[in-house]
Amino acid sequence: MRQKIIAGNWKMNKDINETVELIDGVKSLYSTNLHSVKVIVCPPFPSLNVANELLRGTGIELGAQNMYHENEGAYTGEVSPKMLKAVGCRYVIIGHSERRQYFKETDDFINRKARKALTEGLIPIICVGETLQEREQNITHQVVTTQVEGCLQNIPGENVEKVIIAYEPVWAIGTGKNATPEQAQEVHALIRSLLSKLYSPDVASKVTIQYGGSVKPENAKDLLHQPDIDGALVGGACLKADSFIAIVKAAL
Ligand code: 13P
Repeated sequence: MRQKIIAGNWKMNKDINETVELIDGVKSLYSTNLHSVKVIVCPPFPSLNVANELLRGTGIELGAQNMYHENEGAYTGEVSPKMLKAVGCRYVIIGHSERRQYFKETDDFINRKARKALTEGLIPIICVGETLQEREQNITHQVVTTQVEGCLQNIPGENVEKVIIAYEPVWAIGTGKNATPEQAQEVHALIRSLLSKLYSPDVASKVTIQYGGSVKPENAKDLLHQPDIDGALVGGACLKADSFIAIVKAAL
């Protein structure tokens, strides 16, 4: 049985004071009966250290939203896996569609980051997903297949088992229009069968595949109870403790 994993991608939201407020809220609502669901919060870089201190002993885990594929050096503005580990991160989101769109990240670049994250002991949350135009052209399967294959290049099966893949259809992100549970399940099943072909059925059965894109307390339960949906990567709804925890509850 794969454990359900709910991750909050705060994106570029919450300064240090707002971070304290949101983490305190999430902590106070994450009651013992929810502990079978893994919860990860991914605040912006300047908030990671404080978030790490506040989360100590709560069972809530910490992730970053990006990283570079070197541990140090002349890469102005970048943050390394070594730095992320030192502030308590265990996870890192890689290849989010906003990074693909605004910062021109390619599958090859995302793959380099994913391999480095794994080498350094961080778990990458690798994002894939088609645009509205691609869905309308009926090329969703091709697009997602190319992204998954490209992002997982040269990652051996024993490492792929640890990876989290987040299927986030671009047209569902921040739009309030989520994929239906059936639409999401179809792509999740495609990803799992691709993993089965690329690696083995055993490896495929161990990989966590999250859905992301307008997940809210109202739609979370149906999405999270599809056979191949193992959790959610939540944007807007993770910025309020009560709606984030309502999504965690929906995963039970
Ligand atoms: P929303 O939940 O705001 O649609 O964002 C989803 C997302 O991009 C999470 O990474």
